[in-house]
Amino acid sequence: MSGRTILDMFRLDGRVAIVTGASSGLGAVFARALAEAGADVALGARREERLADTRAAVEKAGRRAITVRTDVSRPEDCQALVDATVAEFGRVDVLVNNAGIGTAVPATRETPEQFREVIDVNLNGCYWMAQACGRVMRPGSSIVNISSILGLTTAGLPQAAYSASKAGLIGLTRDLAQQWTGRRGIRVNALAPGFFASEMTDSYAPGYLDSQMGRVLMGRAGEPEELAAALVFLVSDAGGYVTGTTLPVEGGLLTS
Ligand SMILES: NC(=O)c1ccc[n+]([C@@H]2O[C@H](COP(=O)([O-])OP(=O)(O)OC[C@H]3O[C@@H](n4cnc5c(N)ncnc54)[C@H](OP(=O)(O)O)[C@@H]3O)[C@@H](O)[C@H]2O)c1
Repeated sequence: MSGRTILDMFRLDGRVAIVTGASSGLGAVFARALAEAGADVALGARREERLADTRAAVEKAGRRAITVRTDVSRPEDCQALVDATVAEFGRVDVLVNNAGIGTAVPATRETPEQFREVIDVNLNGCYWMAQACGRVMRPGSSIVNISSILGLTTAGLPQAAYSASKAGLIGLTRDLAQQWTGRRGIRVNALAPGFFASEMTDSYAPGYLDSQMGRVLMGRAGEPEELAAALVFLVSDAGGYVTGTTLPVEGGLLTS
C-alpha cells in the first residue's frame, strides 16, 4: 500500500474487465466507468451493433475493448466470451454480471416459458459467466452481480420471475464468495440498484416511476454514474476487504 493515495486504490490500470449487457443502459455506463478507471473491457450482449457504440466510448476513454455477441442464457456463449477475452487481453480480473431482462406478468397468467426465460437470463446466465471466469481468474480478481432492490422488497408490479431471479443472485453471490474468496482469492459481491433511467425503465407504464418516488428518501431516481462509482469501489482495491455482500444503491428506498 505504501505511496498509494486513497484515490489510487480505486484505479484499475492494467486490469481486464468483462461486462455483460453492455449494449445499453447501465452496462454501457459500467463499461465506460471501468475504462475511465483504467481497465480494458470485453463487452458482451446480443445486439452487436449497439456494442460497437460502447466500444467507441471505452476507446474514447483511452482503453481497449472487444465486442462479442453473447446470449448469456447459453453456457457456450459465456465460455466463448471469456475465451475471447483471454485470447485478446491475456486475463480476466473483473466480471460484471449485468445482463438482465425485466417483465411484469400476473402470476395467474405467467407461462412456464415466460418465467423460465427471466430465470435463464438473469440468474442462470450469471452463473455460467461466473463459472467460466472463476476457472481462469487469478487471486485479486472480483465479480459483481447486478441484483436489484426487487431481490429484497417489492415495488408494486407483478414481478415474480424478476424478483426470484434477483433474490437468487444474492444467494449465488453469498455462496460463490464462500467457495472462492478464501480458496481462490476471488471476491464476489452484488449491487442492488433502485431506480435508474435505462431502456428497462423507459418501458414502465406512464406514472409508475413517479408512484414509487414517494418511497425513495432521496426523492429522485439515481444517476447511472452514482451506481457505476459503487461498482468501481467494489471491483477495485478500494473494496479489497468486501466480499459476499449485497450493496443497495437506492436512495434510501429500503429504509423508508
Ligand atoms: N435500471 C434500473 O433501474 C435497474 C434497477 C435494478 C436492477 N437493474 C438491473 O441492471 C441490469 C441492467 O439493466 P438496465 O436497466 O441497464 O436495462 P437495459 O438498458 O434494458 O439493459 C439490459 C442489457 O442486458 C442485455 N441482455 C438482455 N438479455 C440478454 C441475454 N440473453 N444475453 C446477453 N445480454 C442480454 C441487453 O442487451 P441485448 O438486448 O443487446 O442482448 C442490454 O444490454 C439488469 O440486470 C437489471 O435487472 C436495473
